[in-house]
Amino acid sequence: MKTDTIDPRNISLVQFKSLSTEQKVAFYQKEGALFDVLLSQQFSRELLEEICTIANATRKIAKSYEGMMWLQTVLAHKRAMLYFIQPSTRTFLSFLNACHILGIKVSEVRDPSTSSEVKGETPSDTIRTFSSYVDVIIMRHPSEGFAETAAWVLNNSDRPVPVINAGSGRDQHPTQALLDIYTLERSFEENGGIDGKSIAMVGDLMRGRTVRSLSYLLTNYNGVKIFYVAPNELRMGDDIKSVLSRNNIQFFENDDIESVLPHVDAVYMTRIQDEYEVVGAISEKEYERFHLLERHLSLMKKDAIIMHPLPRRKEIDPSIDNDSRAMYWRQERNGMWVRAALLIKIFQKEKQVLNYFSQHSNIV
Ligand code: CP
Repeated sequence: MKTDTIDPRNISLVQFKSLSTEQKVAFYQKEGALFDVLLSQQFSRELLEEICTIANATRKIAKSYEGMMWLQTVLAHKRAMLYFIQPSTRTFLSFLNACHILGIKVSEVRDPSTSSEVKGETPSDTIRTFSSYVDVIIMRHPSEGFAETAAWVLNNSDRPVPVINAGSGRDQHPTQALLDIYTLERSFEENGGIDGKSIAMVGDLMRGRTVRSLSYLLTNYNGVKIFYVAPNELRMGDDIKSVLSRNNIQFFENDDIESVLPHVDAVYMTRIQDEYEVVGAISEKEYERFHLLERHLSLMKKDAIIMHPLPRRKEIDPSIDNDSRAMYWRQERNGMWVRAALLIKIFQKEKQVLNYFSQHSNIV
């Protein structure tokens, strides 16, 4: 099936789901511009760099009262739905505050027991109903593939508003990966950028959607090496490793954090994802081998960084928080700027924001 011969409004959901990633990526654009945001595979190097540039400009404009007031006019004519029926603190709050910064009015459903889904309304009808009132739907859902279903449903309706995937089951969390890339870019700004860097991803890589989405985005960079450090029972999926191989990204796998730490520029820690049951998963006690402890700091490069999508349990000792390499608190704040940049890009206001930034050269 060639992409240019397919109209998503003329195929069934079952046919749509069976399309290749490349064909789906084409659907998630409108007239060549970013529209739905469902997969990390939608982001080229050029688009990633543009989003980082918009995020930087937005962050700097927001430093002044006048700048913040101006930003609130940029999308003041838009309304967003935050449909988060899986728990979230920072993704929800960073999207909510990105909307506040840009003047977008927000509605929310976080508890499905308060929606008419309890009366038997289908999830698809629920999504259509949201689209009657808002201009973008930002959703976190426990089911892999539901954000994709929502995008197909709306593409087949008279209100095809964009859908942003804010976490879909164990599958993907593309906007987390965007903020992870922004954090890496900012951290390595004076040190050659992301190209050529070695990055360790540590922990429950089988069930962690953030490490999956970040792995996809890293295929856009040259000479990157990835070290997957995981218990044998929770190793990174073969689908991701195949993508890395096809893109000539070197990766290594082991289960010994201490042997990897001296060789990497970034350590990306993750918690055990025991909300998703899998056969043979290890216990929290056994997971302690994948914790970063204060004694590990001396093994790391002096200019390496420590990341975590958060929330954490015990996989990073809180005593590490004050180390200059600990980047995870800045990383979560970066999420607000990146998500604002994404909304600016989806609503095609990037020229307006970048022009304002260049015309206010006193902004640092
Ligand atoms: N990183 C992340 O997705 O955090 P929340 O689950 O708190 O949104």
